Amino acid sequence: MGENDFSRDDIRAMRRSYGDAGLEQLDADPFVAFADWLRQAHENPMIVEANAMVLSTLGTDSMISTRTVLLKDISEGGFTFFTNYSSRKAHAMESNEHVSLLFPWYAMERQVSIQGVVARTSQQESEDYFSTRPWASQIGAWASHQSSPLSSREELEQRYAGAAAKWPEGVTVPCPPHWGGYRVVPLTIEFWQGRYSRLHDRLRYERPDTSANWELNRYYP
Ligand SMILES: Cc1cc2nc3c(=O)[nH]c(=O)nc-3n(C[C@H](O)[C@H](O)[C@H](O)COP(=O)(O)O)c2cc1C
Repeated sequence: MGENDFSRDDIRAMRRSYGDAGLEQLDADPFVAFADWLRQAHENPMIVEANAMVLSTLGTDSMISTRTVLLKDISEGGFTFFTNYSSRKAHAMESNEHVSLLFPWYAMERQVSIQGVVARTSQQESEDYFSTRPWASQIGAWASHQSSPLSSREELEQRYAGAAAKWPEGVTVPCPPHWGGYRVVPLTIEFWQGRYSRLHDRLRYERPDTSANWELNRYYP
């Protein structure tokens, strides 16, 4: 066994007391409350990529997998991100529409966790967003068989060079057929605010289905 110079005591000493930014009230509309927190996270210099969210999916093998994706839109009652439709996450979402999202804003002693149902965005929406991406990212989308085995870094660089030669900078790069958006329509949205003595605030919006009205409930921390 290799020596572990970061001991259990070191890990246990990683303990912080949270402040007293209370969460007494939130807007009746969870999207208004979310937009407010997202803006505050974005304006906080301690937080990088405030729109980064951890997406969890359930695969056909009953294994749960998680990864970070970037929120790109809040519209039509959902949270949108873009990815490769042949990726591991895409296969999971095509077989099980239930997903969760987590925004971990630790520097603000906050998190927002969401459970919901996911569906592809329209192709038009994917194409519209793809056209706004930087050229290098567009070429990267053509180069990557996301989540498939790759024999070497070189193979990826070669595929990138091939796509770059086909669509040189300045030329319109078409949206790959294997690339596009997903929208997560929430069933629960929980706002968590760390507070003193581990007496945190948890306020959860919930509804039984996506056409029902929201209820806002407080939970024990
Ligand atoms: C900060 C950050 C942002 C990311 N944003 C995206 C994204 O918007 N879309 C995406 O497909 N992958 C994104 N990734 C990569 C994913 O986390 C993941 O590695 C990739 O999508 C493959 O996941 P899968 O094999 O589970 O499908 C991001 C990673 C990080 C760390």
